[in-house]
Amino acid sequence: MAAPDALRGIARFWDDAAASFDDEPDHGLRDPRIRAAWSARLAGWIPSGPWDVLDLGCGTGSLAALLARAGHRVTGVDLAPQMVAQARAKLADAGLPATFVVGDAADPPVAEADVVLARHLLWTLPDPHAALARWVGLLRPGGSLVLVEGRWSTPGDAPYAPDAPSLPWDGGVTAAQLVDAVGPLVAGLRLEDLSDDDALWGGPVTDERYALVATV
Ligand SMILES: C[S@@+](CC[C@H](N)C(=O)[O-])C[C@H]1O[C@@H](n2cnc3c(N)ncnc32)[C@H](O)[C@@H]1O
Repeated sequence: MAAPDALRGIARFWDDAAASFDDEPDHGLRDPRIRAAWSARLAGWIPSGPWDVLDLGCGTGSLAALLARAGHRVTGVDLAPQMVAQARAKLADAGLPATFVVGDAADPPVAEADVVLARHLLWTLPDPHAALARWVGLLRPGGSLVLVEGRWSTPGDAPYAPDAPSLPWDGGVTAAQLVDAVGPLVAGLRLEDLSDDDALWGGPVTDERYALVATV
């Protein structure tokens, strides 16, 4: 599936970022302590399955690799073909099974899932509310929505990617905003603060970072 026309600029931005994306400690998870910290969090959010897990805006597949290693059946979706190429190579190199698809995470090309996970994606979607409703609609009864998000910056006047459409949550989304958006769609939810856990980020962070875990 190709990127819809409105998203071409965003896809190009991430294609250009793909080769060096994993250089950030929380992206590549190359440090075993950082990898272990994310594995432990994922195990707390997604009970042992195996489950069908959809990793939306999967990037270079670092979380997909942890999920596959935990035994889950993972499908990653990303708009940027170069990100998907990195993800495919990463899991192949590690001998881990997963399926990766180039496509728009706002309308994932799958019928259903047990878990929908998105880390640091909502801020770059033109209609995050519509995407959240679509994701909840994909979940099987008892399924979980796991959103790893934060509020990192105040957006400037220009879009972060040339030709990007207007992005209501550019710069990130606060936990309070996300609870308001997700609460009416789900049976229950909880928030986990991630700002104080240096091991996740490779050092201290001063901005708001959290996970929202919801059940349908
Ligand atoms: C900040 S990165 C996060 C990547 C990954 N989730 C992680 O945490 O390492 C944002 C990712 O979302 C992807 N992306 C942006 N808009 C998208 C869309 N509409 N559909 C699918 N992927 C999208 C980008 O290509 C990029 O890989």
